[in-house]
Amino acid sequence: MAEFRLPKNSRVQKGGTVHKAEGATNVKKFKVYRYDPDKGANPRFDTFEIDTEKCGPMVLDALIKMKSEQDASLTFRRSCREGICGSCSMNMNGKNGLACTTAIEDLKGDITITPLPHMEVIKDLVPDFTHFYAQYASIEPWLKTKTTTPSGKERLQSPAEREKLDGLYECILCACCSTSCPSYWWNSDKFLGPAILLQAYRWLADSRDEMTGERLDELEDPFRLYRCHTIMNCANACPKGLNPARAIAEIKKLEAERQV
Ligand code: SF4
Ligand code: F3S
Ligand code: FES
Repeated sequence: MAEFRLPKNSRVQKGGTVHKAEGATNVKKFKVYRYDPDKGANPRFDTFEIDTEKCGPMVLDALIKMKSEQDASLTFRRSCREGICGSCSMNMNGKNGLACTTAIEDLKGDITITPLPHMEVIKDLVPDFTHFYAQYASIEPWLKTKTTTPSGKERLQSPAEREKLDGLYECILCACCSTSCPSYWWNSDKFLGPAILLQAYRWLADSRDEMTGERLDELEDPFRLYRCHTIMNCANACPKGLNPARAIAEIKKLEAERQV
């Protein structure tokens, strides 16, 4: 599957540790990517056997059990445990997703877990989001206006105007889409990628924002926007059911419309 790419600093060595689940009746095997830059060794896969009768239903439950009972040094991000914060994004059996909303029973056979593809890894399952967040900041993701707010009033939207933000505001910036996009793998230094472009469109689509022209000027660039070649992996990868490809198409449409 196209999405199954190891992170950037991967020259995986053989012979990881095997953590057994002694006496368990229903065992599920997890092969988990391990990397500790401080140890100077190549990454490896450790095997964790988990007794599914004594574990919650989600992949995140299994990771927490591994960390609590088998290897406290296992490192991953998580916070909300309900698909809201975007912290636990990773690659499970070749598909990007959220560990807290991915059921163990939906993944067949042994489960291989790696960090999000083609990212630099800080440790184990934790990718470095510094560049991703800098790209997010670059689109200035806040309401920008030129007129002053009517005294004592909010800037109002009609229900129809508000509806235009549906499918955009729900993005939790988990990066599952961007790290499944081959264009982003090869050009992430200059291409903004589907997550950030969806966020950019969220502000273009906001009836209260008065900087549409300036925002489109910033995006009109052979790399920042037009490195999207409609590969569509992003739409399949989003765990929130959003469609970044459609948002990118809308931006391209706005760019084309102002040429005529
Ligand atoms: Fe994650 Fe979906 Fe937002 Fe992409 S569009 S960052 S996959 S929530
Ligand atoms: Fe990439 Fe999605 Fe475009 S996968 S190339 S951003 S349609
Ligand atoms: Fe928050 Fe998974 S822990 S999205």
